[in-house]
Amino acid sequence: MTSAAHTPQSSHARVMDRLYRRQRHFYNLTRKYYLFGRDRLLRDLDPPVGGRVLEIGCGTGRNLVIAARRNPHALFYGVDISQEMLSSAQSAAARAGLTSRVFTAPGDAERVDARQTFNVKDGFDRVVFSYCLSMIPDWQAALANGIAQLSPNGRLHIVDFGDMAPWPEPARSARQAWLSHFHVTPRADLFEIARLLGGAHGLAVKPASIAGGYAWALTLSPARPSQMLHTNLA
Ligand SMILES: C[S@@+](CC[C@H](N)C(=O)[O-])C[C@H]1O[C@@H](n2cnc3c(N)ncnc32)[C@H](O)[C@@H]1O
Repeated sequence: MTSAAHTPQSSHARVMDRLYRRQRHFYNLTRKYYLFGRDRLLRDLDPPVGGRVLEIGCGTGRNLVIAARRNPHALFYGVDISQEMLSSAQSAAARAGLTSRVFTAPGDAERVDARQTFNVKDGFDRVVFSYCLSMIPDWQAALANGIAQLSPNGRLHIVDFGDMAPWPEPARSARQAWLSHFHVTPRADLFEIARLLGGAHGLAVKPASIAGGYAWALTLSPARPSQMLHTNLA
């Protein structure tokens, strides 16, 4: 499924399109050196047979294609605010011969109703944000919206830049200066907000730190009663 929405572009969509117009052609090659944790997230996805996986901010479709190859029993859906990135994602799915299982559409993470866009009424078994929340102006709304796309037993996976707390200050500010060229702001309160939003929907958060907080990975899964008690008391 591909669709070109002829709606007026938001200013953020224009910023993303400008950023990625050229970069998308060498994005996969360059990002593998600094977007750590994506492959681990893809290994952990483990969708059920017949399951549906949604990536919000799917970019070039790199993750969708890898995950679809690894899980031939599942269907994969991607939304992105950048038409430039979506055209790369669509080409990647076509090159990989996966157009019958990888579907993409335009959408703003803050408000897209992917269940309706892709006609997935029961919601998605897995929802993924990979290095995306750090680029979304109202990332908390995007996270709440991602949670709303889950099926009742669904699981949400996040990987993104961390706060590098244990690193020396020069390294932290050098990375932030570099990331700001790409409109990226690491979300220092990602764990707390995920706990808050997830907890309100009966989801327990499992956080992990990658390379001394360079990146963070979080999984939000349906909480067992004992975990919910722990989340509420924490
Ligand atoms: C750093 S790229 C990550 C792409 C992919 N998830 C990956 O791991 O390679 C961030 C992506 O998020 C998209 N994005 C940024 N803001 C968005 C928004 N509000 N809604 C949907 N996608 C957004 C960008 O267009 C870009 O494709």
